[in-house]
Amino acid sequence: MSELITGIGELTTHSGEYGRLTDAAVVIDGGRIAWVGSAASAPAADTRTDAGGRAVLPGWVDTHTHIVFAGDRGAEFEARMAGAPYVAGGITSTVDATRAATADELFARADSLRREAERQGTTYLETKTGYGLDVDTEVMSARIGAQVADTVTYLGAHIVPAGVDRRDYIDLVTGPMLAAVRPYVDAIDVFCETGAFTVDESREILRAGAAAGLALRVHGNQLGRSGGVALAVELDAASVDHCNHLDAADIDALAGSDTVATFLPVCDLSTREPFGPARQLLDAGGRIALATNCNPGTSFTTSMALCVATAVLQMHLTIEEAVFAATRGAARVVGRVEGSDAVGVIAPGSRADLQMLDAPSIAHLAYRPGVPLTAAVWRGGHAVV
Ligand code: NIG
Repeated sequence: MSELITGIGELTTHSGEYGRLTDAAVVIDGGRIAWVGSAASAPAADTRTDAGGRAVLPGWVDTHTHIVFAGDRGAEFEARMAGAPYVAGGITSTVDATRAATADELFARADSLRREAERQGTTYLETKTGYGLDVDTEVMSARIGAQVADTVTYLGAHIVPAGVDRRDYIDLVTGPMLAAVRPYVDAIDVFCETGAFTVDESREILRAGAAAGLALRVHGNQLGRSGGVALAVELDAASVDHCNHLDAADIDALAGSDTVATFLPVCDLSTREPFGPARQLLDAGGRIALATNCNPGTSFTTSMALCVATAVLQMHLTIEEAVFAATRGAARVVGRVEGSDAVGVIAPGSRADLQMLDAPSIAHLAYRPGVPLTAAVWRGGHAVV
């Protein structure tokens, strides 16, 4: 069954760079975009949806979440807002709760967060392991991740769990744990930060992942100049995420590389870390993405729209740059930029992942911050909202 969406007031395609069309129409067929053009020349289709002048854009591509977890850290959040610092050790309380949960409980929580994201326009989702930190719970987390998300990242190297020898844990992460999660995961990540893993440890862990055929990702420069950004560039990682504390050398290194810097603006709000220098990196020619970092410790949101609004209002991106970073720019992190695999783009042949806003233009995403503007969502050509 083909579907014609017509009467689109503003269509953001990301075909070319930002690609904004007015009075546009789109035809979806067989889960793919079949045609894009002006409403006046649209072909016939089996069904017709009138957008009534509203804006249509690609569904959000959220490439950084940690939605497989149990427990609640509202009290930790409240203490932080009263002045307590964020420390990596807070992860331990989620590890304890996750190990105590059943697979059904973990699945139910993760799937409900996935659906919450989808209702807000997210059509491609990544999630990570990293709250198990023993072989059984990491494998369970990876398996549940593969059920709820489009792609899964192995983050056994989140922290060294309490009571475990550091060297023994790194051997586990790079050996038996890696082998056990491998069937479920596409990438490996490491939290390269004070209180987590050093640069040398992170390099060893990432090299083991690369040898197992995984794409590389790094949590870097979140709480200080951890060296994670330089390491990500050195190893040609797909992305380095957080990037709050970058100096000129980091910006130059990223700008001269293919590594995407993924900024997490709601995490920065929730931890009161300085916003990362996304504007300077774009100006230097770097590649950026935006993501929610949905997790119970530092960023308990599924709202990509809030990330976009914050990036515009606080990080000085234009609305086009922010929307691109939350869709087509993010697709680069997960290698979904070409042909029928492409997401974050509305072009003939790409997966039909679209969202319609209850607004005439994408400007309203930042102009009306915090207002739920999602009017409709299509994922793989199916209307899911
Ligand atoms: O991306 N930084 C490391 N990992 C998560 C936080 C995890 C937590 O505190 O539970 C993050 O912010």
